[in-house]
Amino acid sequence: MNVVLLGSGNTATVLAKMIHAAGHAVLQVWSRDQLHAEELAAQVNAIGINSINDLSKDADLYIIAVSDTAIPELAAKLQLERKLVVHTAGSVSREVLKNSSANYGVIYPLQSLRKGMTILPPVPFLVDGNTDDIAALLHDFALSLSDKVQLANDETRLQMHLAAVMVSNFTNHLYALTEDFCNERKLDFQLLHPLIIEVACRLDQGNAADMQTGPARRGDEETIKKHLVLLEIDEHLRDLYQELSESIRKLYRKK
Ligand SMILES: NC(=O)c1ccc[n+]([C@@H]2O[C@H](COP(=O)([O-])OP(=O)(O)OC[C@H]3O[C@@H](n4cnc5c(N)ncnc54)[C@H](OP(=O)(O)O)[C@@H]3O)[C@@H](O)[C@H]2O)c1
Repeated sequence: MNVVLLGSGNTATVLAKMIHAAGHAVLQVWSRDQLHAEELAAQVNAIGINSINDLSKDADLYIIAVSDTAIPELAAKLQLERKLVVHTAGSVSREVLKNSSANYGVIYPLQSLRKGMTILPPVPFLVDGNTDDIAALLHDFALSLSDKVQLANDETRLQMHLAAVMVSNFTNHLYALTEDFCNERKLDFQLLHPLIIEVACRLDQGNAADMQTGPARRGDEETIKKHLVLLEIDEHLRDLYQELSESIRKLYRKK
């Protein structure tokens, strides 16, 4: 496929590299900042532009990968007639593109993407189209980038986006708070890395609830009390610890 990417941030950068590596042609990268457009374009043998008027009419697919809040504003500037246009957001309706073209959809990468990634991780895609044919076409395109592709409408995609926030953003936030806790006490946070990796990888062996360990799971209230004493000077972390311990207790009371 011939592809035009609109955006030059984390998602546009990773997608451009994946699309290029899969043998598709990235014709242009558009960004509101010409330098950003050219920097990304240079990495995938494309042309960088910053004017919507200069968009190629020869692409098969236009991918909007700008911040969620900027999608409606950019979509309103696009008049692509029958050319296929998609966005990449988890929580933005497909219908935001309905006035940009007769053919539109979504390609949502269910992965945490960062510009600086040198090794591209596996990226599952949730795809949607305004007709069955468009959905099938986008499904095939996504399959050329990844072996994990599913069709998902706005509602399913939003639910998966929420799930992604829970398992990725929230766990990472706990890592960040714990790293601070360790640094303040001159404890080596890096010693916890093998534990973090082991617990995440264990999900390949069974469901998360069955893999739960720790004092709240064991009903070890003595240890929990000792931990709470340690957290007396940190109200925020203490509240989180109590909340999460209670959530674990509740889950296993139910079972
Ligand atoms: N990163 C992820 O892990 C991830 C995963 C799945 C889906 N997504 C989705 O991918 C999309 C892009 O996210 P991202 O992570 O790539 O964001 P990002 O790294 O912050 O990049 C945002 C891009 O949007 C452009 N932009 C911001 N405001 C704009 C405006 N008013 N007009 C035109 N362009 C504007 C920025 O241009 P400048 O370079 O000029 O600032 C930049 O190219 C979002 O819909 C997001 O939900 C992201």
